[in-house]
Amino acid sequence: MRPLIVIGNWKMNGSLGSNQDWIKTVARGMESGMPSGRKYAVCPPFPYLQQCADLVKSHSLTFLSLGAQDASAYKSGAYTGDVAASMLKELGCSYVIVGHSERRQMHQEVDEIVSAKALQVLDSDMTPVICVGETADERNSGRAEEIVCAQVAKQVNVLQDRLADCLIAYEPVWAIGTGKVASAQVAQDMHRAIRLQLAEFDEDLASHVGILYGGSVKPDNAVELFAMLDIDGGLVGGASLNPQDFLAICQA
Ligand code: 13P
Repeated sequence: MRPLIVIGNWKMNGSLGSNQDWIKTVARGMESGMPSGRKYAVCPPFPYLQQCADLVKSHSLTFLSLGAQDASAYKSGAYTGDVAASMLKELGCSYVIVGHSERRQMHQEVDEIVSAKALQVLDSDMTPVICVGETADERNSGRAEEIVCAQVAKQVNVLQDRLADCLIAYEPVWAIGTGKVASAQVAQDMHRAIRLQLAEFDEDLASHVGILYGGSVKPDNAVELFAMLDIDGGLVGGASLNPQDFLAICQA
């Protein structure tokens, strides 16, 4: 049985003050217990990881893990501005998002870089959350599945068995930050296609890897999405900034 996982991706949002309020509200909301067999994490920007780790600890927020939004493709050295996976581990991170479409599009991150980052994250004993997804043009031209499966296949080629310790996030680019959520069936169909692509490498691995959906997940659509057979949770952007909405999605 795959656990349901909800991960909040704050992107470049937050402040010392608002982070404090967010953790306090979420701690209060989670205090009375959460549905069992589920995992929750939040990915603040790098400079706030230590603060959030301290806040999680001081509120005894055992339900919530910490994640980062990216990691370097390199171990250490002369890479100005990069943050090594080992540093994120030291700060208490359990998850690291790699290959988000915003990084693929704005920072020219190709599949090879995404795999290199995932390997660094794995080497530091954290879970990479590998993002894949098609653009609106790719979907409109009927190539969505081909594009996404090719992205998955490239990760399989490099990561092989180590994919068993990764999560995949299907984030259709046209659904990110647009309010245009993929219908539960459209998302399920792509999650199924991703799982079949993984099964070509190893059926057992394919049945165990968690595949999260991301793209305009909100409290009012999370229930339907999470009910689908191959959707194992969500990677939540905008709605995760509001602690009440994040809580509602966690409880969906
Ligand atoms: P939104 O939930 O704001 O659409 O963002 C999704 C996302 O990119 C999460 O990584």
